[in-house]
Amino acid sequence: MNENLKVTVIDHPLVQHKLTIMRRKETGSNEFRQLLREIAMLMGYEITRNFPLEDVEIETPVAKCTAKRIAGKKVGIVPILRAGLGMLDGMLDIVPAARVGHIGLYRDPKTLKPVEYYCKLPSDVADRTLIVVDPMLATGGSSSAALTMLKEHGAKSLILMCLVSAPEGVRVVNKEHPDVPVYVAAVDDHLNDKGYIVPGLGDAGDRIFGTL
Ligand code: URA
Repeated sequence: MNENLKVTVIDHPLVQHKLTIMRRKETGSNEFRQLLREIAMLMGYEITRNFPLEDVEIETPVAKCTAKRIAGKKVGIVPILRAGLGMLDGMLDIVPAARVGHIGLYRDPKTLKPVEYYCKLPSDVADRTLIVVDPMLATGGSSSAALTMLKEHGAKSLILMCLVSAPEGVRVVNKEHPDVPVYVAAVDDHLNDKGYIVPGLGDAGDRIFGTL
């Protein structure tokens, strides 16, 4: 099914277990929000696994020693409004020094294309690894547009992190942004004719913010 997709599925048991609870229609907003935050943290932990380290000389209360610290680019987190906000705090829990950018997109009812209505980014995007977060990678339209916008603003190192994806969306991002690694907790079956991921979890924004 997924043979041509370039995507890393984070199959950690905690992530998968929590995702199952999120998918259930009985799960209320409060629990949904909390689980999304926890999964974002666990996914962030996996995504940052290969960040380079460098040696630093420090002094503990007992002795001098050589210890490790993260080297290379600093991190930026970019939630796509509004559902991406649900993954922000989990990421900040593990990368508290990260700068945060926001991107707002809506779908033009005539062209069905994503249109930017908000974009506020750290001034040094070119020097950061930007982790773009959005729970649902459905058609790939908004994720792909967000990545394009970030590149237009100078971003050079991008990672896309989503909770649930449809093969259709992964394919679009792979095609339009072959340089961007995509991390998800699940690749579901397909998109339905209303653009929902099947089986998915419904409208992530509505479930996070209780606007069902
Ligand atoms: N956005 C959502 O919130 N859910 C879907 O299933 C697809 C897009």
